[in-house]
Amino acid sequence: MKLSPIFVGGAGRSGTTLLRVILDAHPSIACGPELKITPALCQLWLNLQTAFLPALEAYGAGAEDVNDAVAGMLGRFLGPYLSRSQKSRIAEKSPNNVFFFEHLHLIFPESPLVHVIRDGRDVVCSLLTMNWVDPTTGAPIDYTRDVQKAAEYWVKAVRAGRTAEKNVEGRCFELRYERLVADPEPTLRALFTFLDEPWDARVLRYHEDKHRNLAGESSATQVSKPIYAAASGRWSRDLTAAQKAIVKDVAGPLLIELGYATDLDW
Ligand code: A3P
Repeated sequence: MKLSPIFVGGAGRSGTTLLRVILDAHPSIACGPELKITPALCQLWLNLQTAFLPALEAYGAGAEDVNDAVAGMLGRFLGPYLSRSQKSRIAEKSPNNVFFFEHLHLIFPESPLVHVIRDGRDVVCSLLTMNWVDPTTGAPIDYTRDVQKAAEYWVKAVRAGRTAEKNVEGRCFELRYERLVADPEPTLRALFTFLDEPWDARVLRYHEDKHRNLAGESSATQVSKPIYAAASGRWSRDLTAAQKAIVKDVAGPLLIELGYATDLDW
């Protein structure tokens, strides 16, 4: 049976892990730790659909076979987790899924996509406290080490998600972190309506599940707490004037477009 996972993405440090535990607290949805491989599989899918398609066609395989093979591979990895959870649906949250929403939509046309967006100034502050490394090379990830790169990463991720939103025929829900933490229930009710799931108040008590495996997740401590709003707007305390100038230069127009700022006077 072909799965139609719910895919969650967004710039890292936008509250994606908080959403993962909230989804996992719903009685119908299993959402485990980041699988991380979705972007790599999408890249493989793209190569098979383009450069390697003629070679596959010589074997009688076509575009549909590529879709089925890649969907099957992801299903093979997600399926056992779903079975163990005894729930009916699975969600996969890896921040960089956001760069592949359009590909995912072509591979899994029924899959809902959720784009988590947070004020880029707060995302930059948060990224700079991370010590992430590329899992394939062990090399430090540059956008956790440099303000300009962090701001560029945020712009790239948000633009990718917003472009996809226009091209996936109503399959993408944009979830604002600030709304989620300021007004959790209405924000989540809208999300679960989009996911075609009934409202269940247990999603707000995600932190009561002491058996959820959070090992290795950067936000494990934070997502073990009830929703708090204290991390919203941290940039006004945490960014230096020099850092603000860089963020403004790189991300100012997008912050205005998203309604996080009205001008560049901050
Ligand atoms: P800060 O580092 O600014 O505190 P992600 O999981 O996408 O990497 O996002 C991490 C951010 O989500 C963190 O930002 C963290 O505060 C926020 N977050 C995690 N759990 C939260 C909770 N219970 N309430 C509000 N925000 C939370």
